[in-house]
Formats: sequence, C-alpha cells, structure tokens
Amino acid sequence: MRQTAIRPVRSVAVIGAGTIGASWAACFLAHGLEVVAYDPAPGAPELMRRMVAQAWPVLERLGAVAPGADPGRWRFEADPARAAEGADFVQESAPERYEAKQPLLRAVAAVLPADVVIASSTSGLLASRLAEGCTHPERVLIGHPFNPPHLIPLVEVVGPHASRAAIEAALAFYRSVGKRPIEIRKEVPGHVANRLQAAMWREAVHLVAEGVASVADVDAAVSEGPGLRWALMGPTLTFHLAGGEGGMAHFLRHLLPAMQGWWDTLGRPEMTPELQRRLVEGVAEEAAGRSVTDLARWRDEALVRLLAAREAVS
Ligand SMILES: NC(=O)c1ccc[n+]([C@@H]2O[C@H](COP(=O)([O-])OP(=O)(O)OC[C@H]3O[C@@H](n4cnc5c(N)ncnc54)[C@H](O)[C@@H]3O)[C@@H](O)[C@H]2O)c1
Repeated sequence: MRQTAIRPVRSVAVIGAGTIGASWAACFLAHGLEVVAYDPAPGAPELMRRMVAQAWPVLERLGAVAPGADPGRWRFEADPARAAEGADFVQESAPERYEAKQPLLRAVAAVLPADVVIASSTSGLLASRLAEGCTHPERVLIGHPFNPPHLIPLVEVVGPHASRAAIEAALAFYRSVGKRPIEIRKEVPGHVANRLQAAMWREAVHLVAEGVASVADVDAAVSEGPGLRWALMGPTLTFHLAGGEGGMAHFLRHLLPAMQGWWDTLGRPEMTPELQRRLVEGVAEEAAGRSVTDLARWRDEALVRLLAAREAVS
C-alpha cells in the first residue's frame, strides 16, 4: 500500500457474518455505510437481519446512528470475491482457522486495489501468516474487536508486516465508526486486552485455589471495586490518580515497594480437575439460579447505560 492519502470508506465487505461479522455489520450500517456480506451458512442473512434489528434501537439510544443511516443497506453475495468487489474496507470474521481464513483473504485481496485495507477479526492467529499469498500483503492486518463489536469501543490493530499507510487507514476507519482503536506494534499471543484478562483471571483462579476467597467474592473484588474505575480509565491512569497531586511519580515512590512485594507472590494455578470443578460450582453459586441468557441480558442493558453515562460526562 503505497498511497499516503486515506481512502474514504463508503462500502464495507463483511466476510464471515456470524456472531462477530453480523455485529460489525450493524456498527458499519449505523455509521451510514453500505455492507456487502459473504457467509456460506444458509441462515446467515436471517442472523444478520435479527442482529441489525436488535442492535439498531440500542445504537439509536447511544446516539451512534448517523443521519441517513439505513439498517437495510446490506446484501449477501454468493462468493467472497463478489462481496469484496467495490468495497473500500474489508472486515473478515470467518472461523478461527488459517485453513478457513487464508483462502478467503487471498480471494478478496485478488480483486481489490492496493489501497483497500483487509482486516481480520482474529483473536489468536498471526497477521503475518494471514497475509501470506495475498496480493499486496502489506494491507492485510488484524482489526480485533471485542464482543459485541457494535457496542464495545476497543479494536486492536496488529500488522507488524503491514505498511504504515495501511495501519493509519485502519486506525482512521475504526475511529470513523466510533471505535477506540489501539495499535499493537509487536505480534504477541492474545494481543493486549486478552493478555490483560488472562493475567487477571490467572490470579483470580489462584486466589480461589488457595482458599483465599470464594469465586463470588473474588469476582466482587473486581466488579464492585477496581472494575468500576477500569471502565473509565486503565490501570496506569488509575494509579496516577492514586498518587494524589503528585500523580504517578508520587505513586511510584510511595506504593511501588508494596506492589513489587505483591508481584513476587502472584500465583500460577495448576488447572487440576478438582480446581476446575470448584470453579464450575463456585460460579453456579454466584449465579444463584440466573441463567446465562438472563445474566447476558442484564450485562448488555447495563453496558449500554454505562456507555451512555460515559458519553454524557465526557
Ligand atoms: N466471539 C467472540 O467473542 C470474538 C471476539 C473477537 C474476535 N472474534 C473472532 O471473530 C472471528 C469469528 O468469530 P465468531 O465468534 O463470529 O464465530 P461464528 O462461528 O459465530 O461465525 C463464523 C462465521 O463464519 C462463517 N463461515 C464459515 N466458513 C466460512 C467461509 N469459508 N467464508 C466465510 N464465512 C465462513 C460461518 O458460517 C459463521 O457464520 C474469529 O476469527 C474469532 O476469533 C471472536
């Protein structure tokens, strides 16, 4: 990708329209874009229709629907190359396997000019391998969303082999559809956010394994405490505030020795069948009869209100 001017995006190809692809489509449509999709599953258009219908009123409540945006401005094509033709950006969300994604990415890359960015939603595959064999591999990168992409702002952009122009174009595109992209400069397993989740969960499991607290109490130690602040600012900015007027510099002088002492004792639990059983039983006790569907409905409703509240005071 040699061009430095960023191509304006009017039409997006959504390749793979399951949980993530259909949610991406709702986000793109709400921002006034056209969506052309490809997904071989016979039920895919119906899933897209349902997802867009459910997401639209929520996005309207969040003020995330652009004037003139049309929830019906999508169609499916019978093959990936046809879906990609004429697209200004591609978001691939096919099954998480190189054998599934690589042929798709090659097929769409073959019909697209060099300045069209092709982004994969992959959670764990390497950008450099996904780009192998694609025409203009320097515009193939990862744009990793969080479920559901039409609500969660974070997108992790990863492309160590990608051109600067492609990275900038992807960052600009995601910002234009209301996302908060971050750039990941080195390929690491799990990108950044999943590594942070993994670090936190490892210690949560360790605390349960050691009998320090129940599953429900360890969860409450996050959601009723620091988790509330983390929805507003990340851990380093949070500690900058913990340093009072002196900010991070004071925090480091004052609290780093204690923190380092805790770091030295963090656990690495062995996931024995017995520990796994305790986690399953512990979380069932915490759920107290609420089904996963009930909990997800409550979480999504609260998430929308939280996002709206953040918007209102920003
Ligand atoms: N589910 C999540 O929480 C999550 C979060 C972030 C990223 N992702 C990533 O998004 C991608 C999709 O995950 P998902 O959860 O939407 O899975 P999913 O199973 O819900 O959707 C995958 C879709 O791909 C379709 N598909 C199968 N073969 C295809 C092909 N050859 N071409 C095009 N489409 C094909 C399937 O019919 C299905 O609709 C994965 O790479 C995953 O790692 C998932």
